[in-house]
Amino acid sequence: MGDYSEEDVGNIVSLEHVNVQIPDQSLATLFYVVGLGCTRDPYLNVGLNNMWANIGEQQFHLPTRPPQVIDGYIGLVVPHLDGLAKRLESIADGLKGTQFGFQQEGGCLIVTCPWGNRYRCHASQAEFGDMAAGLPYVEFAVGAGAMAAILRFYRTAFGAPTAVESDGQGEFGRVKIGRHQSLLFRETERALRPYDGHHIAIYVANFSAPYGFLKARGGISEDVRNHQFRFKDIVDPESGSPVFALEHEVRSLRHPMYNRFFVNRDVSQSQRSYRRGWDAHTPYLR
Ligand SMILES: [Fe+2]
Repeated sequence: MGDYSEEDVGNIVSLEHVNVQIPDQSLATLFYVVGLGCTRDPYLNVGLNNMWANIGEQQFHLPTRPPQVIDGYIGLVVPHLDGLAKRLESIADGLKGTQFGFQQEGGCLIVTCPWGNRYRCHASQAEFGDMAAGLPYVEFAVGAGAMAAILRFYRTAFGAPTAVESDGQGEFGRVKIGRHQSLLFRETERALRPYDGHHIAIYVANFSAPYGFLKARGGISEDVRNHQFRFKDIVDPESGSPVFALEHEVRSLRHPMYNRFFVNRDVSQSQRSYRRGWDAHTPYLR
């Protein structure tokens, strides 16, 4: 008999969006909507200065401004890797002269956006539970020696379970989010790309404890407004020294957008082989 701890979730219940600025909405549409197969949010930010691109129960927020790039990988789950490869081939001409590219690596497709963000695209699999499309993790490159302190920060400030794991590329730290999402931190000896202001949004069950931890240390970068605060510096809770920069929007479950329904299309639907009633995709396996 187990102790059923696998049923538990930590205090961070979901990673909802990744926000990276993009300089050109036409190219971003080609990449995120046509290529990756995201669905543009039809309700909010429908103008030219920002676009929200849905993938399962997560989103990209893509404000039209100079590009921001995450030093690492954004993990994606897509319904079919073959279909993804075909869509990426179809946009290659339109993205000529940019950093766009893709290659197979293990069982994944590694895709680079026109401005250098890298996506590790997986087919749905047990590791990601019943997620058939979505954003299961973001993996950040961090400085040598930083990982343990980063994991300590998420455990202490956020009540998030953490683990040290390893794969073909070595050891990495995992911060567990909700049922099947994570933030991953992998140390590197090379120089890191300077932090450029991109951010992630997370929802927490207990909001006041992380707020209190950061407030006491002067770490709140934007105070609570609309059930949300922001912070940027991840500090070692033992020494107080900053170890990594990443802006987080931290939202309580009382935020009006918690568990908002995101419209997703079935990317295999086409004019030529149209199936009535199959326009929508459900982000869970059926
Ligand atoms: Fe945001």
